[in-house]
Amino acid sequence: MLTVAVLISGTGSNLRALLEAARHPDFPARVVVVGADRDADGLAHAEEFGIPSFTVPWHEHDSRESWGEELGRQLAVWTPDLVVLSGLMRLLPPALVAEYSPRLINTHPAYLPEFPGAHGVRDALAAGVTETGASVIVVDDGVDSGPILAQERVPVLPDDSEHSLHDRIKPVERRLLIDVVRRIATGELPLNTASSTLS
Ligand code: GAR
Repeated sequence: MLTVAVLISGTGSNLRALLEAARHPDFPARVVVVGADRDADGLAHAEEFGIPSFTVPWHEHDSRESWGEELGRQLAVWTPDLVVLSGLMRLLPPALVAEYSPRLINTHPAYLPEFPGAHGVRDALAAGVTETGASVIVVDDGVDSGPILAQERVPVLPDDSEHSLHDRIKPVERRLLIDVVRRIATGELPLNTASSTLS
């Protein structure tokens, strides 16, 4: 059984979808802990599902490295096989990336390498594209630049707002995330050779 830690910053709707999938007896992975960089609304999902959680408040640290060290200490307690960034709106420091990558994956609301960064949906709208997408990637030291594990296109509609477009992207993200976690757990998607075999 693959053990998974999930890190969030926001509402945790993708986290919730993973928790729902993972409670099915046939699902080959379990969420063992949820962490956040703030008092995120999504921590309520962990509580509802009886999953332990922790918060490492960003504003209580004077550097990314110090914050990352504490985050690393909290994660280490659970020895997760996989760490999922599911709406964590912070870059991890290189030391933490080095410790977990490629067992460190991220969901992103755009068709990478298009529109990386914190505003993937807004940037796609501003660019006037007719389609964007959702991606699940391995985290590396860049910004949303790691090997792509799964991605799918989502059309942009003429009257889309950032909110309506993001609302249509998220269900796709959830499906991709759950499928990627399942395939990692079954060994169908090997991560130890991520950079050479996954594209
Ligand atoms: C998701 O769309 C996720 O891809 C995005 O934040 C949202 C979190 O939603 N992450 C990024 O944009 C990271 N660059 P949720 O809290 O409802 O799951």
